[in-house]
Amino acid sequence: MASPSMAVAPLALFFFFILSLGSSSAQLSTSFYSSSCPNLFATIKPLVQSAISKEKRMGASLLRLFFHDCFVNGCDGSVLLADTANFTGEQHAVPNKKSLRGFKVIENVKSAVEKACPGVVSCADILAISSRDSVVILGGPNWNVKLGRRDARTASQSLANNNIPPPTSSLSNLISNFAAQGLSTKDMVALSGAHTIGQARCTTFRAHVYNETNVDSSFAKTRQSKCNKKSGSGDNVLAPLDLQTPTAFDNSYYSNLVGMKGLLHSDQELFNNGSTDSLVRTYSSSSSTFSSDFVTAMIKMGDISPLTGSSGEIRKKCSKIN
Ligand code: HEM
Ligand SMILES: *[C@@H]1O[C@H](CO)[C@@H](O)[C@H](O)[C@H]1NC(C)=O
Ligand SMILES: *[C@@H]1O[C@H](CO)[C@@H](O)[C@H](O)[C@H]1NC(C)=O
Ligand SMILES: *[C@@H]1O[C@H](CO)[C@@H](O)[C@H](O)[C@H]1NC(C)=O
Repeated sequence: MASPSMAVAPLALFFFFILSLGSSSAQLSTSFYSSSCPNLFATIKPLVQSAISKEKRMGASLLRLFFHDCFVNGCDGSVLLADTANFTGEQHAVPNKKSLRGFKVIENVKSAVEKACPGVVSCADILAISSRDSVVILGGPNWNVKLGRRDARTASQSLANNNIPPPTSSLSNLISNFAAQGLSTKDMVALSGAHTIGQARCTTFRAHVYNETNVDSSFAKTRQSKCNKKSGSGDNVLAPLDLQTPTAFDNSYYSNLVGMKGLLHSDQELFNNGSTDSLVRTYSSSSSTFSSDFVTAMIKMGDISPLTGSSGEIRKKCSKIN
């Protein structure tokens, strides 16, 4: 007959297991590949560098890919899965379609990493490292990336549609959207500083520059000049998210907001007589405070529900499951 103490041991194990699920990022570590792929960082950075040398915007595109990966079932490479068979993957979700880019760069990095360390490094981790490298190459802060994520075998278009905030978001929408991912209001404001680089399509800022009053009028006119008032024509014409230094990772995004020159409605929401105004002012006047809060928030975003242990897989190619 089983003694009571024999029943307690498995129960204790079970609770330990539940606890470890709660802190699912516990297994990520900055040294995860130090013996299994010692040249990982040296393999990736020159390839990201050469992609950015060919086209400065690519750094922005890679950083955004990481954000759109992490907000959909965690940072699991799901966004990288090619979506050409039946258009039911993440790449055809509303925020991503005709918008996300950089997939070829990541696939190219992956094949170099596969040559160096076959079957070892996940696409999710390659994306995390490539986005950090992009920030550094464009003049932003450096940090050690936590690693050990594994790749998903599925993608979710519906979660991509639900979880990635649209540019029409209000401040309270943005706060609750990031809170749903375990990110604070401060994280949200700091991560939005990623809009110090990159480009947006006319369709994403048309209503803000034509119809809203919380925008500098001469800036609005400049942006209107290349963004047809009528939707449908010229929807894909691009404008820089940061009018001052569109390819430098700095804090000028925040001084744009203070000057009422945010490009997206959602950008200007961060400085619109609301609770985040003072933080925007702080970041606009202190690039070191912005850098340190951005790094903290990037690490937190990278911790969102990773697949670890024997969950998921290490893909051979980032665009398809094994
Ligand atoms: C706060 C909520 C956010 C909203 C509403 C938002 C929305 C957008 C939109 C509408 C665009 C332009 C897309 C297009 O025209 O195709 C864009 C671009 C971009 N976003 Fe965000 N975003 C947000 C947060 C973030 C975060 C957290 C990051 C990264 C940490 C990020 C990084 C970028 C980058 C780098 C670009 C430019 C991409 C390129 O040039 O290829 N965004 N975002
Ligand atoms: C879409 O195609 C993928 C790959 O061919 C397949 O795994 C998935 O089940 C398909 N989804 C639907 C809804 O048909
Ligand atoms: C501006 O608002 C009006 C009235 O709501 C709307 O009909 C029009 O389409 C909007 N224009 C743009 C460019 O968003
Ligand atoms: C804040 O409110 C004041 C007074 O109502 C107004 O003049 C100002 O334009 C507003 N500023 C912003 C950033 O919305």
